[in-house]
Amino acid sequence: MTSALKHRRRALVTGGAGLIGSHVADLLLREGWSVRILDNLEPNTHRRGRPAWLPAAAEFIEADIRERAATRAALDSIDVVFHQAAYGGYMPEISKYVHVNSFGTAQMLEIIREENLPVKKIVVASSQAVYSEGAARCPAHGLVFPPVRSLAQLGAGDFSVHCPHCGGATTPAATPEHAPVGGETVYAITKVDQERLVLTWGRQTGTPTVALRYSCTYGPRQSIFNPYTGVIAIFCTRLLNNLPPILYEDGLQTRDFSFVEDIARANLLAATTDRTISRRRKRSCAPEASCSG
Ligand SMILES: NC(=O)c1ccc[n+]([C@@H]2O[C@H](COP(=O)([O-])OP(=O)(O)OC[C@H]3O[C@@H](n4cnc5c(N)ncnc54)[C@H](O)[C@@H]3O)[C@@H](O)[C@H]2O)c1
Ligand SMILES: [Zn+2]
Repeated sequence: MTSALKHRRRALVTGGAGLIGSHVADLLLREGWSVRILDNLEPNTHRRGRPAWLPAAAEFIEADIRERAATRAALDSIDVVFHQAAYGGYMPEISKYVHVNSFGTAQMLEIIREENLPVKKIVVASSQAVYSEGAARCPAHGLVFPPVRSLAQLGAGDFSVHCPHCGGATTPAATPEHAPVGGETVYAITKVDQERLVLTWGRQTGTPTVALRYSCTYGPRQSIFNPYTGVIAIFCTRLLNNLPPILYEDGLQTRDFSFVEDIARANLLAATTDRTISRRRKRSCAPEASCSG
């Protein structure tokens, strides 16, 4: 941790009423930070209004990240921004994703720069969604990055992931950070936008920035209302209602899950490590890779 951060640890957690943001806020408070939360209590997520877990010790601003004045006020005297607020999931409001995620992030960066605010670091929530299908292993071609499966393939009942070179069967493989970054859903496109905006801005202004590409996250406070809420909450809700969980495709698909408190700790580590400060991007990183600073 830099000495500057050690003495003035003031955090803004956007989306701090949500699953990940609220655990980030709790952890920061436990670690002695002062915490401000900006969250509009998006009705898709917070159908019952203000959640009980909002910590009394944090300052809470109920406002939309798209509101310029509210975002400006939220950024006042902040050292580190944990930018978690986003419109998530696979809903049809294309313009809302772009407006909340892309525009909201762009405007926040613009305010910090225009007003020369003393923000020392930004940690932005990106997503595994930027990797599309992710990596796979072909017996002939090794690690490959297959394109998203076509509707025609899925319609024909073939749910496997094929090698882009030989069309052969692949097995799932851990996706390395340098994997190609795309965006095959509107949500994913805006997550690519968010991380590129933040990392590019960081390089231009000399501000350390980090993008964390979370995997599927689960844990207490996960909204059961949001359709994006994740398969664990959906399975649990069905089981609690004496309904069997529904497995789509052939049931052989796999997902990696992360516990929310581990994600919160990753945010704290990213915020407090010096390894993201004033480093030029490594050559091996793809332009979009999360290694700015
Ligand atoms: N949960 C996951 O599995 C997962 C995976 C990858 C990435 N992410 C990313 O992590 C971040 C946090 O996700 P989460 O799972 O905690 O979601 P969440 O829905 O629980 O929390 C998001 C919070 O942002 C707030 N918000 C939404 N729109 C806003 C707006 N316009 N202005 C202000 N606040 C707004 C919501 O009210 C909510 O409290 C998001 O950026 C999401 O894209 C989550
Ligand atoms: Zn192959």
